[in-house]
Amino acid sequence: MPETAMRRQNLKTPGWAQKAFAWALHAGNRVMRDTPERKRPLFAALSGRVLEVGAGAGANVPLYPKDTQLIGVEPNRFMFRYLREESQKFRRVMHLLNGRAESLGLQDNSFDAVVCAHVLCSVDDLAAALNEILRVLRPGGLLLFVEHVAAPRATPLRVAQRLLSPFWQRVAGGCRLDRELWRALDRAGFTELTYEHFRLPWAVLFSPHIMGWARKPGPRRPQRG
Ligand SMILES: C[S@@+](CC[C@H](N)C(=O)[O-])C[C@H]1O[C@@H](n2cnc3c(N)ncnc32)[C@H](O)[C@@H]1O
Repeated sequence: MPETAMRRQNLKTPGWAQKAFAWALHAGNRVMRDTPERKRPLFAALSGRVLEVGAGAGANVPLYPKDTQLIGVEPNRFMFRYLREESQKFRRVMHLLNGRAESLGLQDNSFDAVVCAHVLCSVDDLAAALNEILRVLRPGGLLLFVEHVAAPRATPLRVAQRLLSPFWQRVAGGCRLDRELWRALDRAGFTELTYEHFRLPWAVLFSPHIMGWARKPGPRRPQRG
């Protein structure tokens, strides 16, 4: 898919805020070294046509096996410069589309895998986004996810997440601190939903995470690794 086919589809946040967020994410990627190491074994299983939803500033680009065909959907066009830089640096080709998880506008059953990393916290309509991911995955295709999530209920951290989430949503591209994502995944219609909870202690409000995969119902094809 040529990059010239990019569609215009903007976020609600003003341009200057999108630009600042893109810069900050790019800068943050340079210092955050622990999530890439955790993600590496998960990404090693990817093959074929892979869609990254909310590809951001390209933190995951180096993790993709070299022979995967990459398509990145990203609503913030200011991210594209960084995505191109990372693709060039790590010798990957990622075709970029300006779009959103809730309406991907891509063909049914057209991807072997979809990757979501720190993006499902930000989508406005989570059920619609998961529905779209299921639609574009081929039967038996994989969703891989690494996401920060809500802390356990009735803990001080969960209370802090709930109180600060409305403010954070405004300044950080719609990111919710207190999403119980695993419940939405459980209801969405995937099979083999498999994940682990883990914590990034330094990340304070974002420290609770889940990482894992789920499969679209259908026949399995052999995976790498
Ligand atoms: C925290 S960044 C993560 C970026 C990247 N996946 C990573 O692992 O570094 C969240 C990204 O999701 C994008 N995003 C926000 N709302 C979205 C939506 N509705 N659909 C797709 N992407 C979205 C943001 O523009 C941003 O690039």
